[in-house]
Amino acid sequence: MSKLNIGIAGLGNVGSALVQTIEENKNYFLDKKDVELNIVGISAKTKNKKRNFNISNYLWYDDPREMSKDDNCNVIVELIGEEKGISYEIIETALKNKKHVVTGNKALIANHGKELFELANINSLALSYEAAVAGGIPVIKTIKNSISLDRINKISGILNGTTNYILTKMQQDNLSFDAVLKIAKDKGFTSDQESKLDIGGYDAAHKLTILSTLCFKSNLNFNNNYIEGISNIKIEDINFAEKLGYKIKLISEACIIEEKISNFTSPKLVSMDNPLASVDNALNAINIETIHLENLFLEGEGAGGKPTASSVLSDLYDISQNEKFDNLGFKIDKLQSFEKYSAKNVINSYYLRIMTEDKPGVLSSITNYFSDFDISVKKILQLPESSEVDKPIPIIITTHNIQKEKLSNVINKIEGLEFVKEKITVLAIHDN
Ligand SMILES: NC(=O)c1ccc[n+]([C@@H]2O[C@H](COP(=O)([O-])OP(=O)(O)OC[C@H]3O[C@@H](n4cnc5c(N)ncnc54)[C@H](OP(=O)(O)O)[C@@H]3O)[C@@H](O)[C@H]2O)c1
Repeated sequence: MSKLNIGIAGLGNVGSALVQTIEENKNYFLDKKDVELNIVGISAKTKNKKRNFNISNYLWYDDPREMSKDDNCNVIVELIGEEKGISYEIIETALKNKKHVVTGNKALIANHGKELFELANINSLALSYEAAVAGGIPVIKTIKNSISLDRINKISGILNGTTNYILTKMQQDNLSFDAVLKIAKDKGFTSDQESKLDIGGYDAAHKLTILSTLCFKSNLNFNNNYIEGISNIKIEDINFAEKLGYKIKLISEACIIEEKISNFTSPKLVSMDNPLASVDNALNAINIETIHLENLFLEGEGAGGKPTASSVLSDLYDISQNEKFDNLGFKIDKLQSFEKYSAKNVINSYYLRIMTEDKPGVLSSITNYFSDFDISVKKILQLPESSEVDKPIPIIITTHNIQKEKLSNVINKIEGLEFVKEKITVLAIHDN
């Protein structure tokens, strides 16, 4: 039988779900796997806050760094979530004091993971982070263990539940971005502070940084990301996309192109027949393409206390069973510094919404620019939206694959035309 003595720092959504599930399933773990998970210490910011378990069953630490030094613990679970600060200090102290660490903290791993993995490696300790990417979906272990010898060509997916909920609700209820954001905040799905990271695409990019490191051995470097959030997505684009057979999703994708790292998080049109299009509400999904697997698709609950606690449990189980820990799935000295692939060179097909005056000749003038610049148009939709005189009308164009820089040049020209009334909306179309 293996026994872990665990200290838990952070008793919010995930931390309290973890304590509860360990309390409720302790005998099940023992019976099924001969593993005893023994919580010896807990810590949070406010001791006298109402919790859904009895804190007096455990030793309380006002300062979680002291728990990281306590000889009674051999594993510290960090579930506070600061990008550096106290979260970093808890983990660093635990590793220096020869304790394994489990964390759900993607911002910290994406920005400061390298030095902590080095510290864990020197001390032959686990620094486990299944909970940091896509909540309850076991994507880290799938990459590290299940397909460890497979060569990954590309990883893409929906990595943020809040933005997926917002985009789904906009589409299903025909509501504006601002209206749905308010609902999401009222329902407690996101706070003012969290929503900046979610909506801005940063949370998804933190997760993509970790995935891209595991897939391509690229140094953990958050600066390698191109990030565009969803706050500029208009309900009219969601509706036009639907007419064309697409849904708009915040897609994160990573691959190596010409020996450079390409990490993008941006809203894209996803064809209705792509499985990612059916991933609605707060669900997450990841698509892994390898030299053997065309499409390994993982879908599930990407957030929430219980699903995320399930990932923490799986890390605790691994720690109880192993003596050696390849925290990245390969030796840390294999990490490579890649140059960042230039966004200008990206090749994609695109959706454009051009708001113009409703007068003869406009469409042919625009399409002439496309043929002059040798850009192949796939579809054109001209849908007068209202009968109001002088109100601009939308022209929707989808293109075949084109280099972003080339497209930007033609867009600049078209935006300069006197009958074009607004900045042109440009969204990439997800092609796999
Ligand atoms: N929630 C999810 O769905 C989810 C999914 C995947 C990963 N994660 C990650 O899991 C981690 C925890 O998330 P969460 O949603 O559980 O966060 P949360 O609900 O905001 O809880 C944070 C906890 O940290 C405690 N805390 C804050 N500052 C502290 C300090 N200085 N010293 C000690 N404790 C402190 C808080 O104490 P009080 O309770 O006293 O305020 C609270 O218990 C984060 O890294 C997050 O990114 C969360």
